[in-house]
Amino acid sequence: MNQKEIVLSGIRPTGNLHLGNYFGAVKNFVKMQETNECFFFIADYHSLTTHPKPKDLQGNVRQVLIEYLAAGLDIEKSTLYLQSDLPETAELYLFLNMNAYLGELERVTTFKEKARKQPNNVNAGLLTYPTLMAADIIIHKAHKVPVGKDQEQNLEMTRTFARRFNHMYGLEYFPIPTAYNFGEQLVKIPGLDGSGKMGKSEGEGNAIFLNDEPKVLKKKIMRAVTDSGPTQMNQEKPEAIQNLFTLMEVLSSPDTVEYFDDQYNKCTIRYGDLKKQLAEDVIQFTEPFRQKIKELSSNDAIIQKVMDIGAEKARVSAQRTIKEVREIIGFRKIH
Ligand code: TRP
Repeated sequence: MNQKEIVLSGIRPTGNLHLGNYFGAVKNFVKMQETNECFFFIADYHSLTTHPKPKDLQGNVRQVLIEYLAAGLDIEKSTLYLQSDLPETAELYLFLNMNAYLGELERVTTFKEKARKQPNNVNAGLLTYPTLMAADIIIHKAHKVPVGKDQEQNLEMTRTFARRFNHMYGLEYFPIPTAYNFGEQLVKIPGLDGSGKMGKSEGEGNAIFLNDEPKVLKKKIMRAVTDSGPTQMNQEKPEAIQNLFTLMEVLSSPDTVEYFDDQYNKCTIRYGDLKKQLAEDVIQFTEPFRQKIKELSSNDAIIQKVMDIGAEKARVSAQRTIKEVREIIGFRKIH
């Protein structure tokens, strides 16, 4: 097969990008643009399940778009668009819903979790989240879907719906997409609160955002959890300390890591110095992102243009698919 594989992923329009998102996903998206045909979109239809105010929805979508562009998604290499600019997705979603069953939808873990968290808003959109996600993916006949562990069951549903459609019409029409998680090469980025991974829901100060101002970064890092220091030569590092070293390994020079590792092993380490150095390196690493975000934020014309170009590119393959699907189903051919 010399046709490039199609990679597709959806991005939730919530919050700002932090280092965990960057090293866990975005950096790989940026890399994949070089070798695959990539579609990345902002899942703004999906976000309606929580009933956002129009202004908030617009602001969030715009911010996420800006941050992904700043992080390296390139509209010359990928198709980057808003889900709501592709109503073909909504049409395919309707078709898929006719063959999606209440029982299987109710069994999806993310649905059960959301229903538990928002018992007063268990809407049909939440229930059919997996059919919309399937429509997102198969509208472009994607092969690979880079997603985190939490989305694997949703992707399994996509595989089910794609197979069901193929089977129903006796065709091999939709490719059956596979999850694409980067395996070994993926670095887990720890947070600053001493345990676990970086995340925005883990509380104030745990995550380092690409858009954080240097002052804020410095303050967060100086406040990161440590302990009273090693008491024995070469002792194993407790989690909170190892976390700071892991961040250093990702962001600082090997010399720096070696220096502090040595200090730790000799029990002469001063965490204040380590944090100062780490803060400096984090500020330096995030600087170009911060600049780019600022630049894009003040240039609305560019953002509008990016959205227009993305919508136009995405529509080409979506319209092709929906046209064929309509005919397969037995609807009148439209021109
Ligand atoms: N459900 C994904 C998430 O919560 C977002 C998403 C929507 C998605 N549609 C998609 C991801 C299609 C991959 C493919 O992160």
